[in-house]
Amino acid sequence: MDLQLLHSQAAIEQRVGELAESISRDYRGKDLVVIGILKGAFIFMADLLRKLSVPCTVDFVRLTSYGADSVTTGKVIITKDIETSIVQKDVLIVEDIIDSGISMNFIHRWLAERNPRSLKVCALLDKPSRRRVGFEADYVGFCIDDFFVVGYGLDFDENFRFLPDVYIVQKIGGEALQ
Ligand code: IMP
Ligand code: MG
Repeated sequence: MDLQLLHSQAAIEQRVGELAESISRDYRGKDLVVIGILKGAFIFMADLLRKLSVPCTVDFVRLTSYGADSVTTGKVIITKDIETSIVQKDVLIVEDIIDSGISMNFIHRWLAERNPRSLKVCALLDKPSRRRVGFEADYVGFCIDDFFVVGYGLDFDENFRFLPDVYIVQKIGGEALQ
């Protein structure tokens, strides 16, 4: 497997700080609930929350749409729902990456039905050229080209989530991915 550095730990930390600043400004005096999408968002969410200067509560949703492959099946399954009420709360969904837009489109509609006061999305990475359904995040760390990336929570077949930087996967077992 060939990995090529895309965003270093230092660059990510700097950008996460900027996102936290915008979010803290926008949610001052609000009733913020941050909902992380497992598993991919766990590292990003942990870093982002520690840089916020406003209080919040947290919850998680676990979605599955990918198998051991790098292309979406187009089908989203919720394997873990939130465990707290978001009625009249200011909800911020935290996601690792938006690709086809199918997962975010689905979860946004799923949570909107629970009557939050507001509902926004923060994604570390966005691949706008890959959209199959319309979706725009409110806060985006980095827009990237059509690469498959791993690290900082993102996986390929459950591997590489622990890496502190984000890498482009170039080859798997001698076969070029892109
Ligand atoms: P979407 O429904 O196609 O937008 O897919 C979003 C989900 O697919 C993300 O939450 C990731 O879990 C996964 N995903 C999409 N692109 C990548 C990637 O480049 N690396 C790792 N996971 C990805
Ligand atoms: Mg994900």
